[in-house]
This record gives sequence, structure tokens and C-alpha cells, in this order.
Amino acid sequence: MSELSVKHLLGIKYLNEKDIQLIFETADHFKEVINRSIKKVPSLRDITIANIFFENSTRTKLSFELAEKRLSADVINFSAGQSSVKKGETLIDTVNNILSMKVDMVVMRHPNPGAGIFLSKHVNASIVNAGDGAHEHPTQALLDSYSIREKLGDVAGKNVVIVGDILHSRVALSNIFALKLQGANVKVCGPKTLLPKHVESLGVGVETDLRKALNWCDVANMLRIQNERLDISYFPTTREYTQQFGVNRTLLDSLDKEIVIMHPGPINRGVEITSDVADSNQSIILNQVENGVAIRMAVIYLLASKIK
Ligand code: CP
Repeated sequence: MSELSVKHLLGIKYLNEKDIQLIFETADHFKEVINRSIKKVPSLRDITIANIFFENSTRTKLSFELAEKRLSADVINFSAGQSSVKKGETLIDTVNNILSMKVDMVVMRHPNPGAGIFLSKHVNASIVNAGDGAHEHPTQALLDSYSIREKLGDVAGKNVVIVGDILHSRVALSNIFALKLQGANVKVCGPKTLLPKHVESLGVGVETDLRKALNWCDVANMLRIQNERLDISYFPTTREYTQQFGVNRTLLDSLDKEIVIMHPGPINRGVEITSDVADSNQSIILNQVENGVAIRMAVIYLLASKIK
């Protein structure tokens, strides 16, 4: 039987191409399950999962919880804002206290890059990274690639541009790793100040002209400016950012071909993307969210099979 090469999902960096294909094949099965009238399977009745979120989330938190419940796992939720972290308890103490309640898996979002890696070395549970600072967001990249595969048939050979705040984006890094593993051609596009130095060393092209980038690509993944991670101003004004790096209907209609528009959410409507693009037939933004549940079911199921 096929199994993942890893015990934890800490980042796409630690996966291989076979892992991604296994996750996608497993997600295909679960996507069929969640479209049945009874959307639940008993696969993980003996597994308990803790979702611990030290940072805000809508999509990822709800999607993981739903995925776990669809697999019949027992689920507990922890939000740092209402916890004893506020009284000075450390990350390891917090998680070890949760694990002493016989928890098998921890899904964690944390503002610090590498928090999941750190945890995996200190606690005896399977760790799933639900976003660690500006480092990685592996399940987002998996659901993004899965959505491209669903829309265009394959990821290999497709031209994908990631637009916006690449410097502070965990979605960008995980997407670059995932897309390159699957044989896509990848470019990043944004203001020079928001492109990491030496980003080409990851095997991606760099484009600072949005029109050129959009004319090159099959898929544009539009990113939000990560205002919560900006310590200084990286561009003169939001209006000027939007003029140069926002997509709108007029720009899309002037391109040589029809491209697919993606966004991991949350959207800042009118900044990186206008409503008439986000809500159009070219956008697969809500398909990404729907696919997130099947992808997270697949990840949890495959990791849990390594615990049993
Ligand atoms: N895409 C994403 O991670 O969204 P949330 O921050 O709402 O989870």
C-alpha cells in the first residue's frame, strides 16, 4: 500500500512528487465522499486531533475542522487568544498539556516561521503545519495545485505566475515548491521591494510588468499584501500598488488569451483584485476553498495511517 514519505506535514519542501500524487489521488476519493448525501466516513474514529491556532484564520481553521469531522475523528480546538498562553505558558508546555489528553495529531498555525518544525522535535504527535509566519502553508499549496489540475487537467507544463507580496508570503513559497515538483513553469511578479533577493535560485522567473506576466501565464495566483507582516512601507501608496499590480476586468479583457485566476484568500477587493474578476467565470477562488476540505481529509488520513 502507498504511504507518505513523511510523518509530519511541515512544508512542501519535505515532500516528493509521489507524495503529492498520493495526496491528490486520496483527495479525489474524498471529494467524491463529500459530494454524497452522507458526507462522512468512519476512517478515523480512533484518532483525536487538536487544532491550535496562534494566528487568525477563517478558511484553514474551518476547513481542517470540517475535514477531521468528515473523517469521524474527535476534534478539539484551541485559540491562543483565549488560552493560558496569555499567562505566559510556552508553546511546548501548551502542546504537551494538550497531548496528555491523548491527542494523536496537532494542526498548528503560528506566526513564527519554523514553529511546526520546532514542535515536531519536542512532542510525540504528528504535526500538520497550517501556516507558519512567512515560511510555508503546505495544505494551501496542495489545494492550489489540485485546483489547477482539476481546471486544466494537469499541472506539468503549465505557466503559473504568483503576483504580489512574495517576500512575506508563505503561500508563495509553498506554491513554488509544489508547482516546481510537478513540472510547472513558475514566475513571480510584484514590486521589486516585495520580491525576495535571489528568488531565481528557487527555479522561478521574475517579472515586474504585470501585463507581460499575465500574457505569459495560464494561471495567475493573486496574493494579498501581508499588512500584518510589513514593518515598513514597501510601495508608495495602496492606490499606486493597485494601478501596477492589481487585476481588473479591463486588463484581463485586453490579454491575448483567457487565463485562470486564483487567490488563497482573504481577498482585499479593489486592491490586488477587483470584484468583477474575483466573482467571474475565470476565477476558481471558491473551487480552491471547496477543494481544501478534500485535500485536508487526504493529508490527515494519510498521516493518521502512519500513527496506527
Ligand atoms: N488562505 C488562508 O490561509 O486563509 P485563512 O487565513 O483564512 O486561513
